[in-house]
Amino acid sequence: MSLYREKEKLQNFLSDQHQDQLKTGLVPTMGALHEGHISLIHKAVSENDLVVVSIFVNPTQFNNADDLDKYPRTLEADLEKINAFNDKVIVYAPDANDVYDSNVAATNFDFDGLEFEMEGKHRAGHFDGVGTIVKKLFEIVKPTNAYFGEKDFQQLQIIKKMVAKTQLPVNVIGCPILREANGLAMSSRNERLSKEMRQNAAFIFKTLMKSKEVFGQESITATKDWVTNQFAENHDFELEYVEIADEHTLKPAIEKTKEQKYRAFIAVYTDGVRLIDNIALN
Ligand code: PAJ
Repeated sequence: MSLYREKEKLQNFLSDQHQDQLKTGLVPTMGALHEGHISLIHKAVSENDLVVVSIFVNPTQFNNADDLDKYPRTLEADLEKINAFNDKVIVYAPDANDVYDSNVAATNFDFDGLEFEMEGKHRAGHFDGVGTIVKKLFEIVKPTNAYFGEKDFQQLQIIKKMVAKTQLPVNVIGCPILREANGLAMSSRNERLSKEMRQNAAFIFKTLMKSKEVFGQESITATKDWVTNQFAENHDFELEYVEIADEHTLKPAIEKTKEQKYRAFIAVYTDGVRLIDNIALN
């Protein structure tokens, strides 16, 4: 497996490989790789001739300095995991000055309102940071296909919107959420939970699963209230938001229609760690 720390060297390698005649997959990550990330890499390997995994903890998408500070950085272990793939998988792990051309700042994007819902409301500037770095990675790597997890469902929709608006020639491919044995969505942040809380955090997915049943029988408001009450009764968690939204517009749903696809989205704090999850309701 080859590791590139500088975009120029990465681009020289890609042009030596005659990238224009190949399918290139890109899997953007912030490292601390877990099975969720690995599943994206597997999909990319099965659909491309070459795969670039980027590992970069992007400062411009963190709205909280402490969260950025505490974000796990485990490059050596990450490289070992990627080494288990064949040599068509390469790594781009730049420092901020390389990927940002020494101007480490987010640009403003208009994602047609997707950026104002849910995560956007609670993490000011987050999606400008995500859009900025992903656009840069697309321009550097020029992938045919780029892979994103449904774990960050709003992020996935925002990247699709960015590609549609900028007409970058990239297929954005969504991949299912991988979960720990107890149902907790895999996340690099899970490493920060105590062993006990990591077990208890199964409550988040269990509640989402049950909310699907409630949604089948009750109104949207009643379903959200039911979830809110479940968390009010469990003092291990602090619910930041629960939202039921149309899968495409991400606008909060008010009344059910037969044509729409709905998802429940949730953000909770436990052990001082912020966790998100979502589930398809119909
Ligand atoms: P990161 O949190 O490292 O996630 C990298 C990719 O892995 C994202 O597309 C995310 O949705 C996906 N992923 C994370 N957990 C997953 C799970 N349990 N199952 C399936 N996929 C999962 O998301 C980011 O980094 C950053 O915002 C990034 C896009 C790299 C831009 O900096």
